Amino acid sequence: MSPASDQAPLHAGRPGSGAAPGPQAHEVLMRVDNLGLHAGGRELQHGLTFDVRAGEVLAICGASGCGKSTLLRHMIGLQTPEVGTVTWVAGGEARDVHGDDPPRREIGVAFQAGALWSSMSVGENLMLPLELYTDLDEAQREQQARFKLALAGLADPATFDAEPSSLSGGMRKRAAIARALMLDPPLLCLDEPSAGLDPLTSARLDDLIKRLKTDVGTAIVLVTHELDSLFAVADRLLFLDVQARTATALGPPAELRDHGPDAVREFLNRGEVPA
Ligand SMILES: Nc1ncnc2c1ncn2[C@@H]1O[C@H](COP(=O)(O)OP(=O)(O)OP(=O)(O)O)[C@@H](O)[C@H]1O
Ligand SMILES: [Mg+2]
Repeated sequence: MSPASDQAPLHAGRPGSGAAPGPQAHEVLMRVDNLGLHAGGRELQHGLTFDVRAGEVLAICGASGCGKSTLLRHMIGLQTPEVGTVTWVAGGEARDVHGDDPPRREIGVAFQAGALWSSMSVGENLMLPLELYTDLDEAQREQQARFKLALAGLADPATFDAEPSSLSGGMRKRAAIARALMLDPPLLCLDEPSAGLDPLTSARLDDLIKRLKTDVGTAIVLVTHELDSLFAVADRLLFLDVQARTATALGPPAELRDHGPDAVREFLNRGEVPA
C-alpha cells in the first residue's frame, strides 16, 4: 500500500520492517494529532495527523485558501485548535504547543508577509529575540545577529544598520529568516518564502534552505506553491486537499508526483494528470 494512496492512513514515513527507527535517524520533533482548522466558523481542515522529524524539510502544499498558513499558526502556537493537539516531543519531552510551557525558543518562524518591525533597523530586529530570551550582552547580541545575517546571505555589514524598508524583497525575506534563526531553533517554519521573488532570488533562497538543513541540521516546515522549490528542497510533502478538507497525501514529492492521488498529481504536474 502506497503512503500516497487516497484510502491509506497517512504514514509518517514508509512502513519499515517492523522495528521502530532509531531516534537519531528519525527523531520526531513535533507531533500533530487529529488537528482541525477553523476560520470564521467554517471548517478548513479536519483530522490532520503527522509529525515533523529532526533535520527534514517538510513541505505543506494545497490550493490557495485550504488552510496552510492557518496550519502553520497552529503549529507555532499562535492559534489554539478547537480540535486536536500539537505537541513538541523532541528529546522525549511532551510539551503542548498551546499549553503553559510552549516551545517558543525551539521554533523559529518567518511569516508569509515576512514582516520585520519597520521602526527598528535590521540589526535591532534580529537582536530582539536575544534580548527577550537570553542573557547575552549587547556586543554578543550584535555578533550573533551579524553571524545570522551572513548565514542568510546578507554579509554586507551595512545591512545590519539598514532600515527594513530599504531592503529588496529578497533581502527582506532573508533577513526575516535570519531573525527566525537567532535562537538556533531545531525547527524553522517558513510561509511562502519565495512568493513574489524573481526566479534567481528564489533559487538562492532554496540554496539557503538546503544549507540550513545540511550544515546546521535545522528541520524546516515550508509552505510553498513553487514546484521547482518543492522538488529542490523537500524531503516530504503534506498535501491539504481543499475539497476533502483534510490531508490526502504525505510522502516524498517525486513519489507523489508519479503515484499520488489525482488531485496531488495534478498539483505536482502543473495542472496535467498524466495517464
Ligand atoms: N481570522 C480569520 N477569520 C475568518 N476567515 C479567516 C481567518 N483567517 C483565515 N481565514 C480564511 O481561512 C481560509 C484559509 O486561510 P489561509 O490563510 O490559512 O489559507 P492558505 O492556504 O495559507 O492560502 P494562501 O495559499 O492564499 O496563502 C481563507 O479562506 C481565509 O479567508
Ligand atoms: Mg497562506
